[in-house]
Amino acid sequence: MEVKTSLLDNMIGVGDMVLLEPLTEDSFLENLRKRFDHNEIYTYIGSVVISVNPYRSLPIYSPEKVEEYRNRNFYELSPHIYALADEAYRSLRDQDKDQCILITGESGAGKTEASKLVMSYVAAVCGKGQEVNKVKEQLLQSNPVLEAFGNAKTVRNDNSSRFGKYMDIEFDFKGDPLGGVISNYLLEKSRVVKQPRGERNFHIFYQLLSGASDDTLKKLKLDRDFSKYNYLSLDSAVVNGLDDATSFRTVKNAMQIVGFMEDEVQSVLELVAAVLKLGNIEFKPESRLNGTDESRVKDKNDLKEMCELLGIEQTVLERAFSYRTVEAKVEKVSTTLNVAQAYYARDALAKNLYSRLFSWLVTRINESIKAQTKTRHKVMGVLDIYGFEIFEDNSFEQFIINYCNEKLQQIFIELTLREEQEEYVREGIEWTNIEYFNNAIICDLIENNQNGIMAMLDEECLRPGTVTDETFLDKLNTVCAEHQHFESRLSKNSKFLNDHSLPHSCFRIQHYAGKVLYCVEGFVDKNNDLLYRDLSQAMYKASHSLIKLLFPEGNPAKVNLKRPPTAGFQFKASVGTLMRNLQTKNPNYIRCIKPNDKKAAHIFTESLVCHQVNYLGLMENVRVRRAGYAFRQAYEPCLERYKMLCKRTWPHWRAPAREGVEVLMADLQVPTEEFSYGRSKIFIRNPRTLFFLEERRRQCLEDLATLIQKIYRGWKCRTHFLLLKKSQIVIAAWYRRYAQQKKYHKIKSATTIVQSYTRGWQARKLLRELKHQKRCEEAATTIAAYWHGTQVRREYRKFFRANAGKKIYNFTIQRIMQKYFFGLKKTLPSMSPIDKNWPARPYRFLDGAHTELKRLFHLWRCKKYRSQFTEEKKAVYEEKLEASELFKDKKSLYPSSVSQPFKGDYLEISKNPKYQKLNSSVEEKVLLADVVNKINRANGKGATRILLLTKKNVVLADQKTGQVKASVALPDLTSVSVSTQNDGFFALKLKEGSASAVKGDFLLSSEHLIETITKLHHIGSTASDDGEQLNVDITDEFLVQFKQDKVCVKFIQGAPKNGNGVSCKRKNNRLLEVSVPASA
Ligand SMILES: Nc1ncnc2c1ncn2[C@@H]1O[C@H](COP(=O)(O)OP(=O)(O)OP(=O)(O)O)[C@@H](O)[C@H]1O
Ligand SMILES: [Mg+2]
Repeated sequence: MEVKTSLLDNMIGVGDMVLLEPLTEDSFLENLRKRFDHNEIYTYIGSVVISVNPYRSLPIYSPEKVEEYRNRNFYELSPHIYALADEAYRSLRDQDKDQCILITGESGAGKTEASKLVMSYVAAVCGKGQEVNKVKEQLLQSNPVLEAFGNAKTVRNDNSSRFGKYMDIEFDFKGDPLGGVISNYLLEKSRVVKQPRGERNFHIFYQLLSGASDDTLKKLKLDRDFSKYNYLSLDSAVVNGLDDATSFRTVKNAMQIVGFMEDEVQSVLELVAAVLKLGNIEFKPESRLNGTDESRVKDKNDLKEMCELLGIEQTVLERAFSYRTVEAKVEKVSTTLNVAQAYYARDALAKNLYSRLFSWLVTRINESIKAQTKTRHKVMGVLDIYGFEIFEDNSFEQFIINYCNEKLQQIFIELTLREEQEEYVREGIEWTNIEYFNNAIICDLIENNQNGIMAMLDEECLRPGTVTDETFLDKLNTVCAEHQHFESRLSKNSKFLNDHSLPHSCFRIQHYAGKVLYCVEGFVDKNNDLLYRDLSQAMYKASHSLIKLLFPEGNPAKVNLKRPPTAGFQFKASVGTLMRNLQTKNPNYIRCIKPNDKKAAHIFTESLVCHQVNYLGLMENVRVRRAGYAFRQAYEPCLERYKMLCKRTWPHWRAPAREGVEVLMADLQVPTEEFSYGRSKIFIRNPRTLFFLEERRRQCLEDLATLIQKIYRGWKCRTHFLLLKKSQIVIAAWYRRYAQQKKYHKIKSATTIVQSYTRGWQARKLLRELKHQKRCEEAATTIAAYWHGTQVRREYRKFFRANAGKKIYNFTIQRIMQKYFFGLKKTLPSMSPIDKNWPARPYRFLDGAHTELKRLFHLWRCKKYRSQFTEEKKAVYEEKLEASELFKDKKSLYPSSVSQPFKGDYLEISKNPKYQKLNSSVEEKVLLADVVNKINRANGKGATRILLLTKKNVVLADQKTGQVKASVALPDLTSVSVSTQNDGFFALKLKEGSASAVKGDFLLSSEHLIETITKLHHIGSTASDDGEQLNVDITDEFLVQFKQDKVCVKFIQGAPKNGNGVSCKRKNNRLLEVSVPASA
């Protein structure tokens, strides 16, 4: 919602002087000062803006400010130049009214700045687009160019405009800028050649010398040092806060943007340089024969350089400085120039050159910025003209400038009053005439064609004969003496005869802004603005195209003997055109005021401001504005502003605004003479009525503020509460949701469990039932099968034979057996007799058969094994078997013999020649030949003997000799005794009474005891006639018959000893003890 504000809000002093109460000069100044002190530099008088120069940059021109004032009503915000610019722009765009913005004020009051602010505001708010932006940029950039060439530092202003400028900005129907036209008025060209003390020449000279590159300066034949140039005053060549070098670059850049060609810029700079050079040309007198002095150029170097710059023949120019040709209708007269005249001619040339260059610049800029379309356009004119000037010495320029200001004042008076009147008529309000000072009389004094000062001056200038400034003053004294605003000491009016403040060579005019004393010196010359024809012709002859263009009158083909119009005449004509132009437009005024003479911020010199307020007629302006009604406002904003003062209009008024305002005024009991109702506005006669309304409004606003606060607080609390409530509901909802969710999940999982259990139970139940059902079915099937079987068997029994069952049984058994045997065949163990494996039995009823088969298989396997043996091997095994039968588990020596083969012939008796005799002495085949120990019966010690065993005998022979010591026929042997222990002792017992028994039994010891005894037993058994077996006694105590004695041989276990270990000792006659170590 847009906030409706008013300039009445937060006012410092009063924003509109019309509201000043009481209206006096003091209160007026006080109000200005108060606002100025608070940085409020703008104040209104109705629609006129007063601007007080702050002399410092204020933060009130930002883009945000532009936006703030954009499309707002004039009185809606605090006074600002933007409000005026916006009002003008909007009425141009929306109401199709051409506008002009008239900026007036004295030098340094801020006119040029104000004009730039207006232009920049309009540029910011109008349309955008590539083309539009280019136009805007060109319009804005024309300012720095014109300021460089047309502005100069004066004692009053460091950037004083030394020309008048009026710029028409053209817009299309949408309000987009199309282009512009600039008009310039009377450049103060005298400044080119001479500047008052403390002032300087036009900025461009200093900018060029400071900012141009060395190369450019060289081309222009210039030196950077200001002091080298006569036309440049040195005392204030450098201005604080002005950077000439930077400005030069800005100007060049601006020229480029505006559309100047590179060579055009160069030409312009060449002309500027030429002016500087011109100033350096000096003259010296040279006496002629006729006694007169003729001028000669002193040092021709500068002349030469200038001529080179402009492409002028040096001699031509030199001659033009020495001679003057006066052309009459028929003849040409050439006169010489003295030094003074030469200087005059030089300065006139410089002034003309520069002012024509300036005019050319304006024309050139106009060419660039002129609107491209021929369509009808709306125009906003901005007038920034030099301000009213009162110097110590006021000359022709001040006269012209002040005349212009006088005209502007007049147009101001006329237009403000006319507008005021028109408004009353428009609104249907009764109008009473207001007395005000009309300066038309002063304008008439100056410009009247018959007896005006300018007409007199022109008349004097055109008059043949001697014409001087004095003759001009005389003329004025005679013609204008009666005028009440003209004062001269020599006039017939005796009033001033004794006025010593009025010198004889001066006249005084009572301008609207004060009295100004003009010194007539130079009036005629300046008005004539004479440039010797020789000089203009010399210029025309130049090869420099621009300079040729600037001096068209130098063209000899177009010699015009008519005098050119005077400067005054030209100015009057252009001011006349300007005034007519302005009158066709809707005026907007900016009245600039300079707060002090020091160009300083924060200083408000009351006397100075007072003077300006007076001559600008601002008090009168307020009075005129207030003469009818001090304040006016459209009904809508008025009702909007004050509707809270009446219950019926507050807060909404549904009927037309005017009726609302009427109700409001009636309710407030405002006296009827205090206001009038116009068609669209209410007019309030006295400011105090407005202040009454404002005061009531202020009080009401306080109440309203409380009410608003109350409502706001209530609203805020309620909103807060509602927010809390809403939040609480949201939280509660979320919490409930969460809780429900949790509960739901719990229930869901419980349900799932219950369901799963139930389903499980059901499934199990079903499964059980199905299983039961299946079993029942199976049972039923089985029963049915059995029953059917029974039935079938019963039915078919008669067809079966009686032993069918047995056959089936046998068949089954056979099948089982068959299977068993086939299976056994496949799983038979290996053929090794020592393999103990045997497959498990498959059926219990086969238990016996299985064991029997195992046994049979083993026997068969052994038989198979045996069948592989040879006869010898068989005999060996039989012997081994026999040995086993004899000794196994009976004698400790036996186990060690099992692995030893029974070799029999250990001595290889048949092969060994040593035993050849012994072998031949034995008749039978030797079955055993071994070395034995024969135990000596006396001491138990052994003597080695060879033991031979044949089928019939046991032979003992000497080992060394081989001689037979004893031979025992086997039938004489009764038994053999051996111990149970691990020894090789054996006793051969002989039959008592036998031939062999003469020497008694033999006690021997052999290393091959087991073999020897086994063989002996075998042979002995076979050798016996009666088939009696040879006894083998195994005992640890046996008797041995030694001759007559029977000796007991006792075997005891002794400690193991080294070597043989077995020891035999004779204990007594009857006991032979053999100690055998315990077997390992
Ligand atoms: N609104 C402003 N804000 C800040 N400074 C300002 C403002 N107006 C003017 N000035 C300062 O005052 C100086 C003089 O202003 P300006 O050149 O506009 O005066 P003028 O009225 O055009 O004078 P002249 O008649 O000599 O041309 C400026 O150079 C600038 O420093
Ligand atoms: Mg200016």
